[in-house]
Amino acid sequence: MFKVMFSEDSLLQRAFYSPPHNHCSHMAVSAEHVRSLHRYELRVLKVIERLMKRYSWVPLDQIKNTGGLSESETSYRLSRLMEWGMVRFNTVPYDGYALVFGGYDALALQALTKKGTISALGSPIGEGKESVVHEALGLCPVAIKFHRVGGRSFASARMNREYMPDDGHYPWIFASRRSAERENAALTLLQAKVSVPLPIDHNRHALVMSLVNGLNLNRCRVEHPKEVLDDILDNVRLSYQLGIIHADLSEFNVMIEEGRCVIIDWPQWVEVDHPNAQQFVVKDLENIIAFFKRKYNFAYRFEDALKCVIG
Ligand SMILES: Nc1ncnc2c1ncn2[C@@H]1O[C@H](COP(=O)(O)OP(=O)(O)OP(=O)(O)O)[C@@H](O)[C@H]1O
Ligand SMILES: [Mg+2]
Repeated sequence: MFKVMFSEDSLLQRAFYSPPHNHCSHMAVSAEHVRSLHRYELRVLKVIERLMKRYSWVPLDQIKNTGGLSESETSYRLSRLMEWGMVRFNTVPYDGYALVFGGYDALALQALTKKGTISALGSPIGEGKESVVHEALGLCPVAIKFHRVGGRSFASARMNREYMPDDGHYPWIFASRRSAERENAALTLLQAKVSVPLPIDHNRHALVMSLVNGLNLNRCRVEHPKEVLDDILDNVRLSYQLGIIHADLSEFNVMIEEGRCVIIDWPQWVEVDHPNAQQFVVKDLENIIAFFKRKYNFAYRFEDALKCVIG
């Protein structure tokens, strides 16, 4: 058991963190708006989601016909969805509507709520390059991670054909869903042996997992750095033995909870027989060793770490 001496984060700041405006692309959609979605609005969202496989911008006529609603009803529902940051309208090259992350969040949240996986969405607890994480209420407090891949690097994602096999015009939908599925697959495989959040459920681009009650390694100061690093390396070895390399290991993706480390953020994992597997292991180990050297002036030989992990 090792101890966290103090948090370098301002806990007060975390406690009073006020969520950014709902329409901010970094935050999941407003839970209140999801709760108050009318069934026609839900229907319109699902119709747009489906038709986006064929259209970059779904024409009003198509939404109306597929949804089986009158034109005025459809337009009214669309205007509300736009106001809530779930749908976007574009006039070029023709009038059309498209889902944005807020709308995709709403569909995932609605599905997870209907299944009983979660009953309430809490405040944001983390945000990375490609996700936003919220606290939520399930049978117990849980974390829900909304993957956000391809939205901000739209042009380059569009260039990459691999990103968009069937989901045609909207690579971010496919890429974000795939990212959540990959992370879920890793957590499912690892949970019995490796210290990771427990996967609970997933829908579209949203992954529900157990809530880690602790702080990221970069935000705390631990009393015994050697014990922490040993614990991390043990987990990296166990995951390697199960055939998985994290491939983005760093102090930002390790959390400290009740005297043990929890390794988070797995969507980019690779298999140990990946052609560049060795490079990924090396990078992961170098990152974590460099962090301990930098912050604690604790030196760990790279060769020893590699031996510990791959034997
Ligand atoms: N299960 C969890 N319990 C508590 N907090 C979590 C959990 N999962 C993630 N977080 C918090 O949310 C932050 C962001 O999550 P995560 O690292 O998984 O994604 P990410 O950083 O967006 O990915 P990327 O590395 O691509 O930027 C984490 O640093 C952590 O503080
Ligand atoms: Mg991360």
